[in-house]
Amino acid sequence: MTSRATAEEPRGNDRLARAWARLLDCAHGTGDLATLPLDGLGPDQQRLFATYRDFLAPSPDGIKVVAHLGQSLDGRIATEPGHSTFVTGPDDFLHMHRLRALADAVLVGAGTVAHDDPRLTVRLVPGPSPLRVVLDPDRRLGPDRRVFREPAPPTLLLCRADRQDRERLGTAEIVGLSAPEGRLEPATVLAALRDRGIRRLFVEGGGMTVSRFLAAGCLDALHLCVAPVIIGSGRDALSLPAIARMDEAIRLAPEVMRLGEDWLFWCRLRRAPLPARQAQEIDVADAGPSATRLDRPQPVPAP
Ligand SMILES: NC(=O)c1ccc[n+]([C@@H]2O[C@H](COP(=O)([O-])OP(=O)(O)OC[C@H]3O[C@@H](n4cnc5c(N)ncnc54)[C@H](OP(=O)(O)O)[C@@H]3O)[C@@H](O)[C@H]2O)c1
Repeated sequence: MTSRATAEEPRGNDRLARAWARLLDCAHGTGDLATLPLDGLGPDQQRLFATYRDFLAPSPDGIKVVAHLGQSLDGRIATEPGHSTFVTGPDDFLHMHRLRALADAVLVGAGTVAHDDPRLTVRLVPGPSPLRVVLDPDRRLGPDRRVFREPAPPTLLLCRADRQDRERLGTAEIVGLSAPEGRLEPATVLAALRDRGIRRLFVEGGGMTVSRFLAAGCLDALHLCVAPVIIGSGRDALSLPAIARMDEAIRLAPEVMRLGEDWLFWCRLRRAPLPARQAQEIDVADAGPSATRLDRPQPVPAP
């Protein structure tokens, strides 16, 4: 049994590397998704790669939006002070890096940048790092954060139009958006990103940001990775406007797969399509010729 497993593992890894290389080619090159080689992968890996294939399938309105949260059994993504290293295990981290590598842009809320100071780059798998997008409507973040200090990959800071006092914060480009009632509407954010050539957006957290996209009907899929840990207090994963009756709840038909010690719930959702002409109606500040456009490096070939 043991010798069989060790003999088969390298071949399994080769197949995984081949399937991943093909996905990267489909995402950023000319590969054909229909011929994605999934044979020889285990059932959970096949299910996982089906989620990536779904992410790459084009959307009729030009943008596909996938969110992920790594949560405890009791629905928390971090402790009360904001510590979230590590709620889920290494397989989920690999999964998140794959989602980053397939996306054109990765988006987080100001709370995540404030607490984690993430780099949001692709480091655990071969593949290019996406454009980094930070939602900071009130401009509460300072220039000391890593996403505003590192020149590459580019960072876009989205804020309320009336809070845009300059064009850049460190290395990041600042773009002001119309914000009725002081909030950035997820649909406005999507339209602005689609205008810049983003076809696939990965919303990586935190809980408030993913919740707002879900509440606004702005997600095509939600990846909820559940770890067998109880935090017992802390920051909520999802938090939506209150409902009175269970028949108002969002009932899903997820596909469930094992990710190491954790369980991934892949929930496909119906997103409200963006109006074709919305991009021309929203108030996007014109950042001029230096505007951050989609200009990604070529994928690194899988070893
Ligand atoms: N386990 C995981 O999967 C995971 C992933 C990411 C982060 N985290 C953890 O989660 C915590 C941060 O999450 P969080 O829920 O507190 O914060 P968050 O979602 O990262 O950021 C929330 C803030 O982002 C801004 N924002 C997001 N969406 C907006 C919208 N549509 N319109 C206007 N503003 C918007 C708001 O800033 P203003 O308040 O300034 O208006 C909001 O307060 C950290 O502890 C981090 O470590 C865990």
